[in-house]
Amino acid sequence: MVDTPALDFARIPHPAPVPGASRQQAITDPGFGTLFTDHMVSIDWAEDKGWHNATLGPRQPITLDAAAAVLHYAQEIFEGLKAYRLDDGTMALFRPHENAKRFNQSARRMAMPELPEDAFVEAVRQLALADRDWFPTVEGGSLYMRPFMFASEAFLGVRPAKHYKFLVICSPAGNYFKSGVPAVSIWVSGAYTRAAPGGTGAAKCGGNYAASLVPQAEAIARGHDQVVFLDAAEHKWVEELGGMNVFFVFDDGRIVTPPLTGTILPGITRDSLLTLAREEGLDVREERYSLEQWRADATSGKLVECFACGTAAVVTPIGRVAGEDGEFRIGSGGPGQLTNSLRAKLVAIQRGNAEPVGFKVESFARRCLLDGVDALGWLNTRLPDIEAFERRQQEPA
Ligand code: PLP
Ligand code: COI
Repeated sequence: MVDTPALDFARIPHPAPVPGASRQQAITDPGFGTLFTDHMVSIDWAEDKGWHNATLGPRQPITLDAAAAVLHYAQEIFEGLKAYRLDDGTMALFRPHENAKRFNQSARRMAMPELPEDAFVEAVRQLALADRDWFPTVEGGSLYMRPFMFASEAFLGVRPAKHYKFLVICSPAGNYFKSGVPAVSIWVSGAYTRAAPGGTGAAKCGGNYAASLVPQAEAIARGHDQVVFLDAAEHKWVEELGGMNVFFVFDDGRIVTPPLTGTILPGITRDSLLTLAREEGLDVREERYSLEQWRADATSGKLVECFACGTAAVVTPIGRVAGEDGEFRIGSGGPGQLTNSLRAKLVAIQRGNAEPVGFKVESFARRCLLDGVDALGWLNTRLPDIEAFERRQQEPA
């Protein structure tokens, strides 16, 4: 394999970006995952060249050979992270190096090449800066960044491909769940499991999500918002939701979340909440928790709160749980106190208006200025917020 030198991004401005008035209209209420910005990042990998051809250019359809390995054997991984607007008007990525690390863990599991962490973060940063005018105006909005990689080699033998593409696209995002819902209702899948020991549960690969679609559709058909999976071996232990980790809060103040045993995704929100709760001196445990106990504790009142967490869903209270053996309610069925306070702390840090604890918020707009890099020149426009930030920097203290 070839070493990758620092990547230089070629910049190709969009010849016909979405007109300002249409863009402004679209970002007032973007929902989740349906609106996309003008640009994308693309980097190629070949066995004999390593990573090359780094481009920030117009978002456009990609051409693939019909024999491309990804279309047959699903060699594909992705990440999800958000650019947040800070109080001072600049934007920030929340712990992007963690996504870069997890991306490479997924790559190793799927026999794909690793992308240097700095290249991953730089790709995301370049795209968020290029499409900063797409930042949603809706309360709580963000730019959801979706880096992904797939096998592009035309080859039908079953072996790791020799050619890959890494892309980043950007989607202005509002709430993942319908707003106005105080807590979600979840369905415990009896018939399906998400991941088995030794499988790909800890990797963020597309195949995991394809396999979750039928149980997720079943949850929706039964009137619930999301599916939650039990472990594959004993069909007893609560693992995670289709796209979120899960936490339990008890009346004695204990907080429990399932441990990272290889079958669940090591969520960055999960890790951040564990850190926040531990910093507060709360009793936090990464322990197995069974469906049977869940039902018993919710019924007796020992379990007072429950929530799901992830980049897209942030922290979402779980109010109701149903399975083949009936349904139970958690606490009042609405958001709990600790859920609300952990969510508020996390969001404050993501938006840059709280002192970070065990991790730092990286403001790339700020770093861009400090580095003296005019990453924006190619578009011949500068972010007004950056200008305001610059003016403030020049004001006497
Ligand atoms: N679990 C699954 C299956 C997910 O898809 C996600 C979302 O990325 C998470 C958990 C939460 O991970 P994170 O907090 O890093 O977004
Ligand atoms: C995320 O939170 O980033 C996810 O990946 C969840 C889902 C949108 C797949």
